[in-house]
Amino acid sequence: MNKLFACVLWIVAACNVMAQEKSAEASMNKVRLKFTLDETGHPGYALYFDGQAVIRRSVLGFALAENGDLDNHFEIVGIERKSIDEYWKPVWGEVSQIRNQYEQLMVHLKQTTEPFRLLDVEFRVFNDGLGFRYMFPQQPNLKYFVVSKELTEFNLTGDHKAFWIPGDYDTNEYSYTTSTLSKVDAWAVERKATDIAVRVVPDQYAVQTPLMLKTAGGMYINIHEAALINYPAMQLHVDRDSFKLSANLVPDALGNKAYLHAPFHTPWRTIIVSNRAEDILASKTILNLNEPSRIKETGWIKPMKFAGVWWEMQTGKSTWSYADNLDSLDSKGQLIPNGKHGANTANVKRYIDFAAKNGIAGVLVEGWNTGWEDWFGNWKENVFDFVTPYPDFDVQGISDYAKSKGVKMIMHNETSGSATTYERYADTAFRFMKRYGYPAVKTGYVGKIIPRGEHHDGQWMVNHYERIAQKAADYKVMLDSHEPNRPTGLHRTYPNWMAYESGRGNEYNAFSDGNHPDHETILPFTRLMGGPMDYTPGIFKLRGYASYAPARQVHTTLAKQLALYVTLYSPLQMIADLPENYEAHPDAFQFIKDVAVDWDDTKVVEAEPGAYITTARKAKGTENWFIGAITNEEARTALIPLNFLQKGKKYKMSIYRDANDADWKSNPEAYIIEHVQADAKTVLRLKLAPGGGAAISIVAQ
Ligand code: NOJ
Ligand code: CA
Repeated sequence: MNKLFACVLWIVAACNVMAQEKSAEASMNKVRLKFTLDETGHPGYALYFDGQAVIRRSVLGFALAENGDLDNHFEIVGIERKSIDEYWKPVWGEVSQIRNQYEQLMVHLKQTTEPFRLLDVEFRVFNDGLGFRYMFPQQPNLKYFVVSKELTEFNLTGDHKAFWIPGDYDTNEYSYTTSTLSKVDAWAVERKATDIAVRVVPDQYAVQTPLMLKTAGGMYINIHEAALINYPAMQLHVDRDSFKLSANLVPDALGNKAYLHAPFHTPWRTIIVSNRAEDILASKTILNLNEPSRIKETGWIKPMKFAGVWWEMQTGKSTWSYADNLDSLDSKGQLIPNGKHGANTANVKRYIDFAAKNGIAGVLVEGWNTGWEDWFGNWKENVFDFVTPYPDFDVQGISDYAKSKGVKMIMHNETSGSATTYERYADTAFRFMKRYGYPAVKTGYVGKIIPRGEHHDGQWMVNHYERIAQKAADYKVMLDSHEPNRPTGLHRTYPNWMAYESGRGNEYNAFSDGNHPDHETILPFTRLMGGPMDYTPGIFKLRGYASYAPARQVHTTLAKQLALYVTLYSPLQMIADLPENYEAHPDAFQFIKDVAVDWDDTKVVEAEPGAYITTARKAKGTENWFIGAITNEEARTALIPLNFLQKGKKYKMSIYRDANDADWKSNPEAYIIEHVQADAKTVLRLKLAPGGGAAISIVAQ
């Protein structure tokens, strides 16, 4: 359970301001916020870091569908200030204790013209940035209302370098483009992107958040949102001439954005800023802006690694479906098996044996249930019922076998985008999981959404994903959502919501031309800012794995795949490759067996978006550390001082690194393992190959 403890400094000052007051400020160390009203009563804010503008005055407000706009003719009728400094403990995470320290400025606004509406803006200024949200107080002249546009702007100071994906209403599964803001063209990227079930990019100049930016002067800026609840996801429209970004909310089937009922508050808009890229990755501001856990007893929530009947379907060795198609029927009207069905009892037991032998806690099985013959692209309800196994999947026998081996089964509920069907069956599906002892579920939303016309990232679906997280919590089931909107730190509030995909995972190395070598150096600065990612790392056979595309290869070395277990944080971490491919490299597999998934502490040693990341983490409840270092297509030397180790203590270190002639393209599976002694004075200089990496385990003696 989240605990608030230690010194809580809580100073509240409220005042009625004079009518002529038009601005207010708040700051924390180098970060300063300035709120202003202009001469027409239009609210705005500006943000400074170390005296330099990060965001120039940018407007705030809303256009409403029917009740007039909420962006003008305001006066300040009250200001409240509060200082908070407290610590809390996440149920799991990158660190075991988080400091929440901020200066709050709450600005109460009232329109000076009929119907005298009220709007509050709450700002929280942190050491590393700003969060702000709108609050619609209870009031006589604004009860039920529809937002047609959120008018929030982020007025940047120049043509910054941006790491971006298109503002797509339905998917985040894109490669990142690194370009200046003036070169953003979402349509050009969408046109060339892998053809998947649904892509919807109406605005040529919209990008997704988290958006990572770097100024010419070396300032790093990250824009996202926190605590997205009952509201559509925010994307950003880029004005390529003025470098002004404006909120683009994902619409519903009617083109409206949000249906609200005062009192209500929006999600937080977040701007994280530093002159060190490492600080962006270390930021806890998004988590701090989320509410504490709603789950009281959390002992059942357990981070884990899992293997799965999965990569073999992705690579064409087997199929999710039992028959080739729905018309493949015998004389009794039964599906004729295609002989390649992956989720058959014998094969599943093989994975359970593999997991048991190697101390891997879980096994995911996809394609175990009926429906896969027509799951893709039909925009259809009732494809899956989430409880009927195929004839060759012995659900009881598998459950008993897993139990006898001490392995946890992970459920898979693909919805094919029909949220309506999933909601109808949700209780049945979760009861089924409980009955057969599945402590976790991976959900999936591949396809156009039903209710038809809704988008993956709109208010209706945002509410759906949260309902499922809540439902999972009611049944004490951990959740890993694939294809939802990207996370916004809600894993603080629902600590059973362990991971999301919401990005271009390792699977694209199977069914597309793959992920560029810089991909994993950008993900932590973008997609992972809101929460853990089920990226499915750990591919060992890096060439010749896709039966339907023999020339395909993963754009990393094997050592880099190991490093991803540390650089891409997730409390549910897949061991994605086939058992036989791990058995071919038992020495390298040792790192995956050893690496932790829950941490006491994390140090981002060095990082640059698009180029490299080195992260060190201390495994929870131990003195052992794990380090991951990765690079893009450029070879580099990672410099890692081990000064975070306990002084005077001796450690045994295993270094898994690229061989001297390794290269993601020509020699990806060449690695070297070295076992040496280490202590706090050790400084590592590790050569990383092009597209390479290094993984290190450090065990206290
Ligand atoms: C897409 C998911 O990302 C992938 O992991 C899964 O195997 C397929 N959908 C099928 O549900
Ligand atoms: Ca996916």
